[in-house]
Amino acid sequence: MRQLIAGNWKMNMRLEDGAALAAKLRRAADGLACDVLICPPATLLLTLSATLIGSPVAIGAQDCHAKPSGAHTGDLSAPQIRDAGATYVILGHSERRADHAESDAVVHAKVQAAVAAGLTPIVCVGETEAQRLAGAQNEVVGAQLTASLPPDFQGVVAYEPVWAIGTGRTPSEADVAAMHGFIRQTLVSHLGAAGQGMRILYGGSVKPSNAASLMALPEVGGALIGGASLVAEDFLAIAHASDAVARATSPR
Ligand code: PGA
Repeated sequence: MRQLIAGNWKMNMRLEDGAALAAKLRRAADGLACDVLICPPATLLLTLSATLIGSPVAIGAQDCHAKPSGAHTGDLSAPQIRDAGATYVILGHSERRADHAESDAVVHAKVQAAVAAGLTPIVCVGETEAQRLAGAQNEVVGAQLTASLPPDFQGVVAYEPVWAIGTGRTPSEADVAAMHGFIRQTLVSHLGAAGQGMRILYGGSVKPSNAASLMALPEVGGALIGGASLVAEDFLAIAHASDAVARATSPR
């Protein structure tokens, strides 16, 4: 399966620098053996989806509301995001779980709204450092998965240990492989056969220097990248690392 290399721009980039970054990616993404996605702030979705039309770079949002419309000042619905050109939406990112008290039940409702609007959800799960130190990472991530994903879930899962996000620290390769194996098992027992082929991204301090080894690990289906997705050269270096893994494992 092709890996997905996804950039989460978070609350960064305005029109001018965002458009310049998207234009650079557009030129460089042709022919890569991985799928490439950027998730800019919602204000840039419409403009950048026009910039990227006809290119291999897909565009996604960073959140959506669970309702299709209504009295929810400041929120955006999944159909509105779809209208703006997005085809993916990140849901349940740990920053939203922390900043907006998003529970698994809220994420579950948002997943259903996203799918109903034709968006592919990328559902984020991951343990805190205290939970990892207590050895509770599987219990935490397993509970997040079963409570956040409806039984007919179709989309992408991103494993993002909270303590690795924006810190420059990553779990060991063995820990990433073990967690991705555990997530695969959980997806198959929760979703049946659909859980077998689902992409499981790794996220948390992915950068050009560690991308090749992370992307080569079993059950890693791509990366969700924050800081390094803001610099075209870094993001593209990660995409090239994924491309090299794909070419090494299935030579043409
Ligand atoms: P980071 O962020 O790459 O800056 O660690 C990852 C994320 O939050 O998705």
